[in-house]
Amino acid sequence: MKVAVFSTQPHDRQFLQAEENSHEWVFFENHLREATASLAEGCDAVCVFVNDDLSESCLKKLHELGIRLIALRCAGFNNVDLPAAKELGLTVLRVPEYSPYAVAEHTLALLLALNRHIHKAYTRVRDGNFSLNGLMGFDLRGKTVGVIGVGKIGSVFCDLLSGFGVKLLAYDPTQEAGTEVDGLRFTDLDTIFSESDVISLHCPLTPETHHVIDAESLAKCKDGLYLVNTSRGGLVDADAAIQSLKSGKLGGLALDVYEEEAGLFFEDCSDDIIGDDILMRLTTFPNVLLTSHQAFFTHEAVSEIARVTHDNLDVFEQGGDYSGTEVS
Ligand code: NAI
Repeated sequence: MKVAVFSTQPHDRQFLQAEENSHEWVFFENHLREATASLAEGCDAVCVFVNDDLSESCLKKLHELGIRLIALRCAGFNNVDLPAAKELGLTVLRVPEYSPYAVAEHTLALLLALNRHIHKAYTRVRDGNFSLNGLMGFDLRGKTVGVIGVGKIGSVFCDLLSGFGVKLLAYDPTQEAGTEVDGLRFTDLDTIFSESDVISLHCPLTPETHHVIDAESLAKCKDGLYLVNTSRGGLVDADAAIQSLKSGKLGGLALDVYEEEAGLFFEDCSDDIIGDDILMRLTTFPNVLLTSHQAFFTHEAVSEIARVTHDNLDVFEQGGDYSGTEVS
């Protein structure tokens, strides 16, 4: 199949081409959206990532061009208008699981680095500043960690934390409050908010979870809460987070994702004037640690994404059963 690959980064080219090559790749650095859809002319499929915008108008344009398949190089699919894709007869396949370990380990890295101020200590020591002032953290042992969304990544994160002697609380709509599974106590969201010292988000972005962390939920939380989000930016109202950082309600904030990340994350903007005042304000807090959507970025995860993407294209082309990776 001839495949238009959007939002191409050097590793996409490297790993997609490393697989046995039965498909013709056309690589574009552009994000896919209505205005760029015409680049896919002459192709059978588009291959897209997290910040491509597959709105109804974009999908209509792809359909007109003869595109039959949307192959996502990711697990999340909140950026695809699924009812529109269905209506147009476009098949949407994804990579449902490539390495929950990659994301869970990055989440833990962010939490530990933020709490122990590793980001500040690193630059201090390189400047010959060996002072400890302002670097005091807290023991995780004995603290309560609330996990929202306990699927593949959330479960691995809980497993990793089980060695730290923390009390784990979990919320997931698939588990009734009060149930205990493998030492993990499921509860309701309000209990997570009121009892947790640390909250980590691992649920998908849906209309229901949009801004699950906002002014109202933050008001229910303990003062000094540490919040980690490696899931999707839209789960956190960044404006409310800034107000809570200013008041001390939030004691630390670690984000790998940001609601308005498209066009910024994955790009080198170091010579540009960045117009996003909320993001820029976040970077000024000493107790905020940001990474640019890199939680998935391990060798194992990226090669698995390439392998499953190839499989998806092969199975679709050969008319096989792709129900395991289809998004419907
Ligand atoms: P999953 O589908 O295995 O687990 C998601 C869990 O969230 C499920 O158990 C589901 O029941 C639960 N959930 C659904 N609605 C909920 C709600 N309203 N409140 C609380 N929980 C809810 O997905 P997986 O693989 O664990 O991924 C989780 C998220 O991580 C993805 O949706 C994606 O947004 C994000 N992600 C981020 C990456 C990164 O590089 N930063 C990479 C991969 C995924």
